[in-house]
Amino acid sequence: MKTDDLEWYDLFRMRGTRRDFLRLTGGVTGLVALGSLDACGTARSLALSTNPFTLGVASGDPSPDGVVLWSRLARSSLEAAGAADQAVGVDWEIAEDDGFTRIARSGSALATPQLGHSVHIELDGLEPGRDYYYRLMAGGQVSPVARTKTAPALGATVDRFRLAFASCQHYEHGLFTALRHLADENLDLIVHLGDYIYEISYGQNVRQHGAPEPLTLDDYRARYTLYRSDPNLIAAHESAPWVVTWDDHEVDNNYANDIAQDEQTAAELLLRRAAAYQAFYEFMPLRRASMPVGPDAQMYRRLRFGNLIEMDVLDTRQYRSDQPCGDGMKPSCVEHIAPEQSILGARQRDWLFEGLAATDARWNVLAQQVLMARLRGNNEDGDETWAMDMWDGYPAERQAMLGLLDEVGTPNPIVLTGDIHSNWVADLHTDFDDLSSPIVATEFAGTSISSNGDGQDMTPGGERRLSDNPHIKLYNGQRGYVTAEVTPDLWTSEFKIVPVVSEPGGALETRATFVVENGRPGAQEA
Ligand SMILES: [Fe+2]
Repeated sequence: MKTDDLEWYDLFRMRGTRRDFLRLTGGVTGLVALGSLDACGTARSLALSTNPFTLGVASGDPSPDGVVLWSRLARSSLEAAGAADQAVGVDWEIAEDDGFTRIARSGSALATPQLGHSVHIELDGLEPGRDYYYRLMAGGQVSPVARTKTAPALGATVDRFRLAFASCQHYEHGLFTALRHLADENLDLIVHLGDYIYEISYGQNVRQHGAPEPLTLDDYRARYTLYRSDPNLIAAHESAPWVVTWDDHEVDNNYANDIAQDEQTAAELLLRRAAAYQAFYEFMPLRRASMPVGPDAQMYRRLRFGNLIEMDVLDTRQYRSDQPCGDGMKPSCVEHIAPEQSILGARQRDWLFEGLAATDARWNVLAQQVLMARLRGNNEDGDETWAMDMWDGYPAERQAMLGLLDEVGTPNPIVLTGDIHSNWVADLHTDFDDLSSPIVATEFAGTSISSNGDGQDMTPGGERRLSDNPHIKLYNGQRGYVTAEVTPDLWTSEFKIVPVVSEPGGALETRATFVVENGRPGAQEA
């Protein structure tokens, strides 16, 4: 098994082409040539006795003229009709009103078993910056009606844009009450920064995964099906278009490129990564450009919202160097400060730096995973320690980026962060040891939807971090999400918390509000 894996791994790593991968894997991973998605349905006369849209519908990656519509037909519904191994035709409609009296576009797609009967319909021909309503139909059954919104026209002046960002939804740790509140925000965009699922069980449990850690495509599909069945998650998807990226738990805790946290070899981790990435694609409203090819997938990408916002969506897992000094909270070591230590990988870094130097948008957002601000800690011996899984583990590349922002004068950089299961606001200085050095960007790190359970407003660790890191202006250890109202003059982040996720019905509170003024990097409490 291992020998075969390694041979397979070497082939696609050394001279990996799409054709090699398909030839080597055959149908095992279920990848299909893109062209077959456009073929005529083979089961169009199918009648389904139960509704196949139990996972809801979703939309994502809006452009000025379109958006991706997504759904995934429930296997149980297809099995009952004897169609679990067939391609199934799915019709779709998108309208200007939720009564579907003014239909803008309609068409058909094919849900194939190779992609778990998911559909990713990339629309064009829509009007920029407006609300739409959509629904899907299959086997005589109709999906719920959901709302979406196209991006403003390229170059258009945008007076106001409202987005929210969220991350880290451990199913066992808490209820998804925060997502219910998120669904009620009537947003232009929801950004999910990763840890959409968790592969591991740890800590407190208010409900159960009911399965061991996933390793195969079937395992990951089952894990996503469990999460995606939560009515609050469905409601959040059906309320607005989403932009998603991933962090580590979509594959394996703290994996780095092809390096597993556990005892898996690189070949084993890449096989697992291929399964995990495919399941992620199957369950998310992503464009075909993000469809994985084996263990590789293009998740980093750039979105534009008129002249107001350019958003660089990053992937700090797939290409990173291994966490230095053995990972965890550690004192520095030689590899930690090595100039080649990279969290982005060379290609993504070049793409990002070119974009940051060229952009003319008013606000320039990095939608990414791990805390970028320096976060000094101390161990029992009194040594300074750094979280090697965060940007603190990759200080040379962070310095290169902050230096670039200073040098090229990128307008109003805003860093949005997940991963850390707590709320933080930080000013990003060119020199964190010198508070008089320029602030070149503002970081808003959002807490988890449910990971770590109810939490507390302040902890001894939070107090210590605030006093040891004067560039940090907020700590909060409760659950929730962050909204941002963006105008040409002001960015306003509201930290929304749900103090109780261990029981149903948790209420929403606004814990803190911070603003950034145009042309004045750094956060101010409102
Ligand atoms: Fe997380």
